[in-house]
Amino acid sequence: MTRVFSGIKPSGHVTLGNYLGALRRWAEVDQHQAESLFCVVDLHALTVEHDPARVRRLSRQAATLLLAAGLDPEVCTLFVQSHVDEHTRLSYLLECVATDGEMRRMIQYKEKAVRERERGGSVRLSLLTYPVLMAADILAYGADEVPVGDDQVQHVELARDLAVRFNHRYGHTFVVPRATRPQVAARVMNLQEPTSKMGKSDDSGPGIVYLLDEPEAVRKKVLRAVTDSGRDVVYDRAERPGLANLLDILAACTGGNPESLAAVYDSYGSLKKDTAEAVVEVLRPVQARHRELCADPAYVEGVLRDGAEKARASARPTVDTACRAIGLLPPVAEPSLSAVR
Ligand code: TYM
Repeated sequence: MTRVFSGIKPSGHVTLGNYLGALRRWAEVDQHQAESLFCVVDLHALTVEHDPARVRRLSRQAATLLLAAGLDPEVCTLFVQSHVDEHTRLSYLLECVATDGEMRRMIQYKEKAVRERERGGSVRLSLLTYPVLMAADILAYGADEVPVGDDQVQHVELARDLAVRFNHRYGHTFVVPRATRPQVAARVMNLQEPTSKMGKSDDSGPGIVYLLDEPEAVRKKVLRAVTDSGRDVVYDRAERPGLANLLDILAACTGGNPESLAAVYDSYGSLKKDTAEAVVEVLRPVQARHRELCADPAYVEGVLRDGAEKARASARPTVDTACRAIGLLPPVAEPSLSAVR
């Protein structure tokens, strides 16, 4: 059976981009078609300036939202990355296979490092090595497929490269994974800056729809979305990015196709109004379920406890094999009482 792994970083509130680009597909398709593991990747949230209490809060919230979005712990495994030591064990081994040049070519590293320096901060070493930890997340579970939005495809390709290189040098150990992307909304853009991704760690609140935004806030943000100076409604990502983004969002929310939807509208106003309502309707059941789950934190904790146990059991044999393959001595078993005597 195909195995799927994916994750979300608790570095900010979950956005509509996360939902349309990843979460919804995990819940509607992946968990039913494959043996699936989904992870709140909290270690990744420590790669930039962070507030420890906020990371804990956001980790809990992300796990609750994944359940609210429809992940079913009866059919998939949901857990928190730091609860399973195998991720960091394997990450170090992969650092011994990855190269410095390879890390510095990662687009997200380049963008985030510039942003950190502009803010006057220093760049954490973990920001550079982050894609190796992400590769470890994937390879530890022998995942065949990694459902992600566009921005993570380069990182999944690195995981592929590291798997192939490790297998070649040290013998077959890892499944070589591949990224899968949604047909529409693989890159939802910021409503105020439609040439930049809608990112949860960004500061531009009015351009970002959060999964837990009230319907009125969603309407306001979508109705105020920056569009282009033209008047006709056409789907052209390069020339009319603001409009294309709205069409992508509407298509993703209604199951349509952005090009055909463009032909249905003759004004920006009606497109914005319908898009706002479509988003409100998509978020409504997720928010309702989230409210219920918040009233039962013990249930969420139980899911994460069981999930970590299952994840550990699944990752350990592969990571142990990788340790042996790369040249580490197996730990010496505890001497039995009779041997001590
Ligand atoms: P993260 O937390 O930034 O995003 C989680 C998922 O949401 C997708 N996504 C988007 N899709 C469409 N439009 C957007 N504007 C948008 N913003 C985010 C992301 O592509 C992702 O699929 N490094 C990863 C987390 C991670 C991971 C992994 C993912 C760590 N280890 C192993 C897969 C497998 C990240 O920061 O995603």
